[in-house]
Amino acid sequence: MTDLASLDGSWQELIAIALDARQQAYARYSNFLVGAALRAADGTIFRGCNVENASYGLTQCAERTAVASAVAAGARQFTQLVIAASGAVTPCGACRQVLAEFCRELPILLVDADQPQHGRLYQLSALLPGCFELLPDRPGH
Ligand code: THU
Repeated sequence: MTDLASLDGSWQELIAIALDARQQAYARYSNFLVGAALRAADGTIFRGCNVENASYGLTQCAERTAVASAVAAGARQFTQLVIAASGAVTPCGACRQVLAEFCRELPILLVDADQPQHGRLYQLSALLPGCFELLPDRPGH
C-alpha cells in the first residue's frame, strides 16, 4: 500500500478526477462503480467510468472508456492512469491489453474509493507481461 499523500501533485489531480468520474458510473446491474483518469503525454486528462448494459457482455470498463475518449481526441501516448473503485482493484485483462496497445510502460495507481488515502502503484508491464502483438511496435502510432 502506498500513502497517497506522498505522491506529487500530478497524481493528486488524477486521483480527484478518477473519484469524480466514478460518480458518473452507470453500474445498474453490478452496482460496482469504477472511475478512471488517464493523462496524455501533453498533460491533457481524459476521464472514464464503467457503462453497463442489459446485455451484460456489452459492458464497457472505466479504463477503456477513458482510452476511447483520449484516442477520439487525438491522444495516443499516456503517462499516468488512476483507477478508483471499492477495494483498489486491478484492471481486468481486456483493459490491460487495450492500454498496452498504446504504451507498454504506464504507471497505474489503484485507489480504494472507500479509503482514498491509500492506494497501490503498478507498472502496466508488470500487470501484463507478454501482451499480444500483431505488428512490430511503432512508437507514436
Ligand atoms: N470494471 C471496470 O470498469 N474496470 C475493470 O478493470 C474491471 C471491471 C467494471 C465492469 C462492470 O461494470 C463492473 O466493473 C463489475 O465487473
